[in-house]
Order: sequence, then C-alpha cells, then structure tokens
Amino acid sequence: VRIAVLASGRGSNLQAILDAIAHGQLQADVVGVFSDRVDAAALQRVPAPRRWAASPRDFADRVAFDTALGDALAACTPDWIICAGYMRILGAAFVARFEGRLVNIHPSLLPLYKGLNTHARALEAGDAEHGASVHFVVPELDAGTVLAQARVPILPGDSPESLAQRVLAVEHPLLLASLALLASGRITEQGGQVQLDGHPL
Ligand code: GRF
Repeated sequence: VRIAVLASGRGSNLQAILDAIAHGQLQADVVGVFSDRVDAAALQRVPAPRRWAASPRDFADRVAFDTALGDALAACTPDWIICAGYMRILGAAFVARFEGRLVNIHPSLLPLYKGLNTHARALEAGDAEHGASVHFVVPELDAGTVLAQARVPILPGDSPESLAQRVLAVEHPLLLASLALLASGRITEQGGQVQLDGHPL
C-alpha cells in the first residue's frame, strides 16, 4: 500500500508511520513526503528522492500551488494521502482530484474545534476531555466523515502545551490504527459516504 504524507512541520506523525513500517507493523510504503515548507523537519525523515516541497509564495495563487502539489502527488501514484500536520487549507479542486484517498488527522474531538488552536479552545471551554480525530478530507475544513477518534482527559493545571503533548501521544497510535484499516481495503469512500465492508459508517 502506497502512502503519501503531507506535512508542514516536525513530522512526528510521519515518523510514527515510518517506525511502524520499519518494525513490520504496517505493510505499506511511504512513497513521498510533501510540504509547503522547504525547511520542514518532516522532509528530513525520508531520503531526498521522496521529498517534495515548494513555497506557496512562489506561485501565482492557491490553485497554482495546489496544482503543482497535485501533479507531484499524482506522479507517485499513492493509494492514500495522509495530511499530518499540514497547515494549509486544500482547495476544492485539489480535494476533488484526490477525493476518497485524502485523510487528515486533526487534534480535536470533531466536530468540536475545527480549525486552529484546538487545545487552547478546549481549555478555554472548560472541557473535561479532548483528543484527536482521523477523518476523510472534503472541501469544507475538518468536516469529512470521521474514521476514528482517541480521547484524553484534560487535567487541572493543563496548559495548551501540556494538553497538546497528551493529545499527540494518542495521535500516533490512532493514526496507525486508522492506516491499518485503510490498508486492509475494507474502507471505501465515495462522495463523502464512507463504508466499512460495504456498510455505511
Ligand atoms: C499534530 O498535533 C496534528 O494533529 C496537527 O499538527 C500536529 C502535527 O504534528 N495537525 P507532527 O508534525 O505530526 O509532529
């Protein structure tokens, strides 16, 4: 199973995938890492031939950047495209081009806290728990069908940073469990409708 990863920063989720593959826990291959940041640490986690990065400011507009990204992605014929800490909104045309193969991990219990600064917002709201969600990508931000979630408690004295660390610790196994399911071929997604063994989720 060919996995492409989009990442803008550190790449700890990418590293969790690479480690699982190296330890024989995931029968897959990371065929490419794609970034909107040429200095993203995530890129350094794979050999140079598997890196693609470009700066959006070098392109006329979002569509031009997304088209270049899409062309580079298509060239490595991925079965699944995982957004893991990819910090740009994917345009509708890009989503349509890869619809059904696009998955994102988001650090909140969707539909709560779509968008940014999820940990601070959960703390601000006084929630008792928080977590992460793996979901299919649709044009609307963080709105696609959720495949799996992991929960963590919010503890007294938590800061956005301490909470982010606790969430990140469950993101990695959550992502790997989701990828195992996706790699199994039991999950299909058509026009926003996700099925497991033919049964709508
Ligand atoms: C993770 O918290 C992820 O949920 C969010 O950004 C962070 C990426 O972390 N989208 P990393 O780059 O995978 O370490």
